[in-house]
Amino acid sequence: MVNITVVGTGYVGLVTGACLADFGNRVICVDNDPRKLTTLKRGEIPFYEPGLKELVEMNRARERLVFCGDVAEAVPQSDVVFIAVGTPPDEQGHADLRYVREVAAAIADHAKGYTIVVTKSTVPTGTGKLVESILQERRPDGEFDVVSNPEFLREGSAIGDFMRPDRVVIGASSERAMDVMEQIYRPLYLLRTPIVRTTVANAEMIKYASNAFLALKISYINEIANLCDFVGADVAVVARAMGLDGRISDKFLHAGPGYGGSCFPKDTLALTHIAEKVGYKFRTLEAVLEVNRLQQQRMVEKARNLLGELGGKTIAVLGITFKPNTDDVREAPSLTIIPELRRQGATIRAHDPVVKDVPGLTDVTWCSDAYDAARGADCVLLLTEWNEYRNLEFGRLKETMRRPALVDCRNVYEPREVRKHGFDYAGVGRSYEAGAPWAMGDVLVRESGDAVERPSVTTEKSG
Ligand SMILES: NC(=O)c1ccc[n+]([C@@H]2O[C@H](COP(=O)([O-])OP(=O)(O)OC[C@H]3O[C@@H](n4cnc5c(N)ncnc54)[C@H](O)[C@@H]3O)[C@@H](O)[C@H]2O)c1
Repeated sequence: MVNITVVGTGYVGLVTGACLADFGNRVICVDNDPRKLTTLKRGEIPFYEPGLKELVEMNRARERLVFCGDVAEAVPQSDVVFIAVGTPPDEQGHADLRYVREVAAAIADHAKGYTIVVTKSTVPTGTGKLVESILQERRPDGEFDVVSNPEFLREGSAIGDFMRPDRVVIGASSERAMDVMEQIYRPLYLLRTPIVRTTVANAEMIKYASNAFLALKISYINEIANLCDFVGADVAVVARAMGLDGRISDKFLHAGPGYGGSCFPKDTLALTHIAEKVGYKFRTLEAVLEVNRLQQQRMVEKARNLLGELGGKTIAVLGITFKPNTDDVREAPSLTIIPELRRQGATIRAHDPVVKDVPGLTDVTWCSDAYDAARGADCVLLLTEWNEYRNLEFGRLKETMRRPALVDCRNVYEPREVRKHGFDYAGVGRSYEAGAPWAMGDVLVRESGDAVERPSVTTEKSG
C-alpha cells in the first residue's frame, strides 16, 4: 500500500486516483476547482465516463479514496504525488505548463520527507528537469525524485484502459523511485503488462510520439479515403485488408471527419513546436495538421455535393462529442463543421446523447433524439458514432425529412443499404460501384480446402 496524492481530478486524474485506490493504495484526489470538489464530495462525477461513478463510490466506501481542495493538506500525507493537471495549448500552440509549475511549487512547499513527484500530464521532453529545478529551488533541503509516467487511457473506455493497458511507461532517474512505481503498478503484473523502465526524457517523448503517430495513421487513412472517393474504390474494404497485415494492424484505420478531442490536436501541435524549437522541421506532422483541418472541411463539401447550395437548407447533425461515450467536446470536429454549415446558410438541428448544449455553438436547435432532429431536414449528417445512431430506422426518418439524404461521416452504414431506403448517401471514401457479390470485401480464409467466411474485421473509432 502506498500513500498517494493525485492533483487534478479531470478525466486522467480522477480515473488514475480511482484505479490506484482500487489497486489497494490510499489515495487523496485534489482539485482547486471548488465546484468540481463539491460535486465529487456529493458522490457525483463532474463528467461522463462509463463505470467511473461506481468505482469511485466503492473505493470511497472502503476509505481508500478521499477528495480534498488543498495540496497543503494532502501532500504531507503522501509518499507519491501524481500531477494530472491540464497542459492545454498556449496562444502559439506550445504546451502551457503553468498548472504543472504551480503544482510543482505547491508540492515543494508542503512535502514532508522523501516524496516522489510523478508527471502524468502530457508534457514536453525536459519538463521533468523543470519540475526538478522548481523543487530544488524552493526546497533545497527537500528529498525528491521526479518520475514521468505518461497516461494512454482513452475517454469512454478509460477504466478498462487504465486497468488493462498495453504497457505502462515509467521514466525515473533513481532506483528508489522506480521500485516504488513498480510497487504501485504491481497488480498489473498478473496480466503480464509490459512495464517500460526508462529515463524521464524518453518517457516524456514516448507519449507525444505515440499520439502523433496515431494522428498520422488516422490522417493517412483519411487521405486514402479521399482518393477512394475520386477513383471509385471503397476505403472500408481497403482498410480492412490493410489491417490484416500485422505490420500495419487494423487499429486507427477508420476513415472519418478528422481526429478531435483533448489530446491529438494539442499534442500534434505541441510536438511540431518542440521540433521547431530545436530547429527541426517535422514535415510529416505538419502535413498531418493540414490534412486534419481540410478533412473537417470536406464533410461540409459532402453535404454541398448532395444538397447544392446550403442556404435555406436544414441539416440534422447527430453527435457533437469528439467520439462516443464521452461528454468531451474539446476540439470536436462538430465545433468547426457546424459553424461552417451555419456560415454557408444552413439551419442546424442537433442531437447528442449526452451533450445538450455547447457554449459557443449558437443558432443550433437542440433536439430530443435523432428522429426529432431529422424533422423537416434536408440531410442527416452523422458526426459521432454513438450506439444509438448505429441502427437508425430509415423509413421513420424519411417520413419526416424534407429530403432523404445522409452524410455518414463515420462510415457506420453500408451505402447500398441506405440507398435502398431511397436516401442519397455520402460516406467517407465509399464511392465505389457496387456490383460483384464480394464488393463489400468479406474476408475468406481457406483452411484445409474449406472456405470459411469471417465477419468483417472490427473498426476502430478515431479520436
Ligand atoms: N483526457 C484524455 O483522454 C487524456 C489522455 C491521456 C493524457 N492526457 C493528459 O492528461 C492531462 C490532464 O488531462 P485531462 O483531460 O484530465 O484534463 P482536465 O482539464 O479534464 O482536468 C485537469 C484538472 O486539473 C485541475 N487543476 C488545474 N490546476 C490545478 C491546481 N493547481 N491544483 C489542483 N487542481 C488543478 C483542474 O481543475 C481540472 O479539474 C493533460 O496533460 C492531458 O494531455 C489526457
